[in-house]
Amino acid sequence: MSWLKGFFNSSIGRKFIMALTGLFLFLFLTEHMLANLLLLLPDNGILYNQYSHFMVNFPLIRIVEFLLFGSLIFHIIYALVLTYRNRQARPIQYAVRKPGENSSWVSRNMGFLGVILFIFLAIHLTGFFAKARITHDLGMVTINGVEMHDVYSLVKAKFEIWWFDLIYIIGFMALGAHLWHGFYSSFRTLGLRHPQYLPLFKGIGIFIAVIIPLGFAIVPIYFLINSLS
Ligand code: HEM
Repeated sequence: MSWLKGFFNSSIGRKFIMALTGLFLFLFLTEHMLANLLLLLPDNGILYNQYSHFMVNFPLIRIVEFLLFGSLIFHIIYALVLTYRNRQARPIQYAVRKPGENSSWVSRNMGFLGVILFIFLAIHLTGFFAKARITHDLGMVTINGVEMHDVYSLVKAKFEIWWFDLIYIIGFMALGAHLWHGFYSSFRTLGLRHPQYLPLFKGIGIFIAVIIPLGFAIVPIYFLINSLS
C-alpha cells in the first residue's frame, strides 16, 4: 500500500484529490441548488418540506452525506497543504512580478475565496444544518398525516432579514469565482489539457460559475422581495 501513500503525498496525487473532491462537491451543489428551487413554489413549502424529510430519512442519502463531509474536509486540508508546499518550493519570490500578465485575479486569490467560503459555510451550517439535524430547534408541520420538520419556514424567516441575505450574496459571489477557476483547473489536473479543448472547458467553467450562484441567489432575493411587498 506504500504506492498509495506515495501517491497521496505526491504533488500530482494532491492535485488529483483536490480535483476529484472538487467535482464531487460540485455535483452536490448542483443538486442542492436545484432542490432549493422548490422553495419558490407557491405551495407554502409543502414539496420542499417533503423533499427535506425524504433526504433525512433515506439511508443511501445519509451515506452520500458522509462522503460529502469527507470530501469537504479533504478538499480544505489538501488546499492548505498545497498552498504551504507551493510557498516552500519557492522561498524567494520572483524579482519581477507582473501577476496580471500570466494569471487571473481569481487564480491568485483562490485561498482568499476559500476563506470567505469557509466562513459562509460555518454560518450556513449552524443556521440550517445544525438546527435541522442536531438541535432540532425548528417548528414541526404535518403533511399528509406525516409529522416533519418545517425547514421551509426556517429558511423563509432567515431570508426575510436583509443583512443575512447580504452575507449569502457575498458567499455566492465567492462561490462563483471559486467554481470558475476550480472547474477549469480540475480538468487540466485530470489530464484533459488539450489546447483545442481549453477554451471549451473555460467556457463551461464560466457558465457554471454564473448559473449555480444565480440559482442559489434567486431564493434569498425572492423571500426578501416577498417580505417587503
Ligand atoms: C439559497 C441558498 C441555500 C439554501 C436555501 C440552503 C439550504 C440548506 C438547508 C435548509 C440545509 C439543511 C438541510 C437539512 O439537513 O434538512 C442545508 C444544508 C447544507 N448546505 Fe445549503 N443552502 C443554500 C446554499 C448552500 C451553498 C451555496 C452551499 C455550499 C457552498 C451549501 C452547502 C450546504 C451543506 C454542505 C449542507 C449540509 C449537507 C446537507 O444537509 O445535505 N448550501 N442547506
